[in-house]
Amino acid sequence: MKKVGIIGLGECLPEKILSNADLEKMVETSDEWITTRTGIKQRRIASENEAVSDLAIKAAREALKDAGLSAADLDLIIVATITGDMPMPSTASIVQNALSAKKAAAFDISAACAGFVYGLSIGYQFIVNGSYKNVLIIGAEKLSAFTDWKDRNTCVLFGDGAGACILSEVKSGGIASIYLGCDGSNLNLLNLPAGGSRMPASEETVRNRMHYIKMQGNELFKIAVRTMTEAAQVALEQAGITFKDVDLIVPHQANSRIIMAVAKRLGISEDKIYLNIEKYGNMSSASTITGLVEAVKEGRVKKGDTVLLDCFGGGLVWGACVINL
Ligand code: ACO
Repeated sequence: MKKVGIIGLGECLPEKILSNADLEKMVETSDEWITTRTGIKQRRIASENEAVSDLAIKAAREALKDAGLSAADLDLIIVATITGDMPMPSTASIVQNALSAKKAAAFDISAACAGFVYGLSIGYQFIVNGSYKNVLIIGAEKLSAFTDWKDRNTCVLFGDGAGACILSEVKSGGIASIYLGCDGSNLNLLNLPAGGSRMPASEETVRNRMHYIKMQGNELFKIAVRTMTEAAQVALEQAGITFKDVDLIVPHQANSRIIMAVAKRLGISEDKIYLNIEKYGNMSSASTITGLVEAVKEGRVKKGDTVLLDCFGGGLVWGACVINL
């Protein structure tokens, strides 16, 4: 069977920083509450005229450069996002046009914070079955556009950003396992109620603030810990390795307490966990991939190392992937 791995990585984080001190002026909260409950110190916020595709395109260009490829080499572009530029066309189509990736097919996927790992699994299969050679996978979000800046339960959590990778056939290493899951019975715990066909936009939906993310954080917290623990175990089992063989775990960055609770349950030391939540908050589908990009840039992992990606998000969905860089 073909080996499929990451041959290029890129990211784009908007320049504007929104600190906990800034949020103290917007809602009734404190740096102390946000830091101790979530681990977040600041987050990046895209400018008003920046859409999610703008972040995705910059991350994609960096990944192409890193891979030594041009856009003409791309066969497929997958954008994982829950904050696309518009419902139609897909953000992937906008990226395809901006890059001039003329021969590439393109589509979006919606799997919230697990979107990047879902995207990896799709790209992986297209390469393994011989359909495509080079697949660009992007996790990108402009969550600030769907955040209720009057709701302290959610507005302290999210940030904007994008990460990208190029998947191709590799001679050694590559993706060793991918495990995906979904439990659609808990839709009420995390959703964005209006703007779709169930509740189209109207004056009433706007007045009732239904176009913003709604979340029951404390319920999700418990499910996230349990699910991310199980997902990590299954992905490792499927790869035929144990935690001792893993050099770094890059988890979805929703809450540092969730991540540390998962690490404790799995019996993993904290130095094997990559955290960037302090700088960026929760960027949904962009969190895991930018975590991987920055772990490589910082030298936390290098070629030949084994990384475990582990995500959980709205759906509820989850995904874990073992990859040898
Ligand atoms: N500042 C100060 N107080 C606050 C704030 C705030 N920003 N937000 C909530 N509070 C208050 C609440 O009102 C509540 O007060 P009360 O006891 O008087 O009612 C109190 O703090 C405790 O609230 P909890 O919700 O129980 O706080 P918790 O410790 O659970 O932390 C948090 C909340 C950070 C949201 C946490 O539950 C969490 O991270 N949950 C998981 C999120 C997650 O995994 N999401 C999935 C991925 S996201 C995606 O898919 C887009």
